[in-house]
Amino acid sequence: MPQTTFDVFRYQPDTSDEAYRQKYELEHGEDMTLLDAILRLQNEQDGTLAVRYSCRSAICGSCACKADGKTVLACMTQVEDLKAQNGDQAVRVDPIGNFKPIKDLVVDMEPFWTKFKSVKPYLIPDSDPPEKERIVSKEAMQKIYNESKCILCAACYSECNSLAADAEFVGPAAFAWGFRFAADERDGQRSQRAKLYSGEHGIWDCTRCMYCNERCPKGVDPRDAIEKLGGIAFQEGLGMRDAGGRHAKAFLVSLRTGGKLNETLLVPLTQPLKAPFDLPFALKMIQKGKAPSPLPHKIRRLDEVKKLMKSVKETI
Ligand code: SF4
Ligand code: FES
Repeated sequence: MPQTTFDVFRYQPDTSDEAYRQKYELEHGEDMTLLDAILRLQNEQDGTLAVRYSCRSAICGSCACKADGKTVLACMTQVEDLKAQNGDQAVRVDPIGNFKPIKDLVVDMEPFWTKFKSVKPYLIPDSDPPEKERIVSKEAMQKIYNESKCILCAACYSECNSLAADAEFVGPAAFAWGFRFAADERDGQRSQRAKLYSGEHGIWDCTRCMYCNERCPKGVDPRDAIEKLGGIAFQEGLGMRDAGGRHAKAFLVSLRTGGKLNETLLVPLTQPLKAPFDLPFALKMIQKGKAPSPLPHKIRRLDEVKKLMKSVKETI
């Protein structure tokens, strides 16, 4: 029978302000999820070990934690898979990141719910409901299918680099829900939502690290939702208000005119008022060969790039 060491984050504020780590040994069958292992430790070895869970079926989203540094749903993670990845070492278990632990693996989710509510995650139609049900086409629902799969587990918040730098950043899941309603044809608040999501700590503060997409256990791809919200912000005439939006636009201009990124254009197009002050620095970089030529450059098959850009635009 496999035997595993679990190296678990402990925080018991009733007895001490200091967090510590505790190791447990467990003999178990081949097929054991991380959640089952934690519950066995709790039942058989240490009743003080705190963990949050409910469905045990990857539906309720409450058992998210870190296993060997990566955020997972404990109930859909096999202990043997973790050991295969970590070279048969002890499995390190921690609470999700970017949240304050309350007790052991249980964190304070209040900031998450506040941000979730702040995006108005519900339909706000601009007319009275029809007498009968309102039929929405499959194609229209397909556009928001991914975002509708979110189970609010907060794994994406745990991995979010923007949130690590700015605790007020609204965050990936909330924006995935924002897109789910902004792009729903029954909703009447598209432009209000675009404004709401483009504000301070909003969509343009995302660093595009992509960890939310990588670690989301349900394939929601929240970073993609943020990107699509950026598209909506531009359609609503709000894109150029923020440096983040102008930065994205600079990429587009660069691609449309040359077929590849012209880094030299990025600063003046993103921060036009600040750019003149950066000029001496930019000239020094060009002199030292550390910056690409500021002259316009074009790739040979620019038409192919333009076709690609057009088809991306049509999917939004
Ligand atoms: Fe969890 Fe994915 Fe929803 Fe984030 S987007 S809360 S990782 S299901
Ligand atoms: Fe519900 Fe894991 S216990 S998602």
